[in-house]
Amino acid sequence: MEQYNFDEVIDRHNTHCKKVDLLKERFGSDDLIPLWIADMDFPVCPILRDTLAKRFAEHPIYGYTVPYEEYWQSIIDWQRRRNGFEFCRDDMTFMPGGMPALGMVLNFFTHPGDRVVLQEPVYYDFKEVVEGNNRLAISNDLLPDGEHFYRMDFDALERIFEVRRPKIMIVCNPQNPIGIVWKKEDLARVAALARRYGVILFSDEVFSDLPLFGHKHTPLATVSDDAAAVTITCGSPGKAFNLTGLKSTWLVIKNPELRREFYRWVEVNELCNANIPALLATEVAYNCCEPWLEQCKKYIEENVLFVERFCNENLPGIVAIRPQASFLMWLDCRGLGLHHRELVRFFAEDAGLALNNGAIYGAPGYCHMRLNVGTPRANLVKALNRLRQAVENLHR
Ligand SMILES: Cc1ncc(COP(=O)(O)O)c(C=O)c1O
Repeated sequence: MEQYNFDEVIDRHNTHCKKVDLLKERFGSDDLIPLWIADMDFPVCPILRDTLAKRFAEHPIYGYTVPYEEYWQSIIDWQRRRNGFEFCRDDMTFMPGGMPALGMVLNFFTHPGDRVVLQEPVYYDFKEVVEGNNRLAISNDLLPDGEHFYRMDFDALERIFEVRRPKIMIVCNPQNPIGIVWKKEDLARVAALARRYGVILFSDEVFSDLPLFGHKHTPLATVSDDAAAVTITCGSPGKAFNLTGLKSTWLVIKNPELRREFYRWVEVNELCNANIPALLATEVAYNCCEPWLEQCKKYIEENVLFVERFCNENLPGIVAIRPQASFLMWLDCRGLGLHHRELVRFFAEDAGLALNNGAIYGAPGYCHMRLNVGTPRANLVKALNRLRQAVENLHR
């Protein structure tokens, strides 16, 4: 039964919303339809909102808070039930965000100048955090697989491990921006190589609750003993339940030798100190909001199909690639015949749309844009009609 309303368009102005407030700074104009940064325009599950409202309205003390049994258990139960990922409280720590977690891992396990592997096109902040900490990012670029998909380049990966001796590899699982759900065999190959060459794997699984169209997420740490030994898993209810502003992230490290000193360092520096809404929202999301998530995923799938159909029928220069996970769509715009810089200008100035510039995800992203479809259909209809008009004008 359809229970929740994802069609409602909610004005996000005056809420310090990054997607809206940074339009002028990032895109040169406030008057664009924002379809960029990866949060959704849907209201959270009502029980989440009610629980937070009740806590803040009814108890007037917002003092120091600690993660509690039900919080940890909600993550443990969710992962076991949904993904067959088994772990216990000792394997876990709280983190105030995915990129803060990556920053901590880099600072603890590597030194300035050390090498870190990632696989572009991929979430651009990985490189920024790596390079911002004076580590060297090396991309093992994904290879085209068929006309519009990608695969990992294992030969190149082994060469990088062997010759350049990186300390860490970041695996984006599922992958952003294309929305790839990695297969167990691929993850096992990465883990075997990592173990052989002494590389720690940072598995970013923040999109793991959003596999679409029957795909199934595989946690990297579950695929083999090698994987369990070398993997740091980073998860969060933020993307799936639209809670990214609450900064609630968790880490799981199954290998006690890998985690012991790191968790001690995190604790003495109080980097895992939690906050009231993050803990509460995580517990409620995992324990009570699964039906909301399932309906949300259905809505996203329909949005994806709508965009696909619209592009096929009306935008011959743009191929919308169907994601296997997430609410993000990778648009191959090479058919428009524009240079990348011109393409970026075209989207903002001619079409009036704020999408992510594909090139920020690495060289394979040239002439691509990333579209966020985690938004009411009416918004997408408006945006795509603007795009159709702009493309028609382009060819006039
Ligand atoms: C793959 C991936 N990891 C991490 C993040 C950011 O996580 P956080 O906001 O918790 O730092 C994003 C944000 O879009 C992302 O796409």
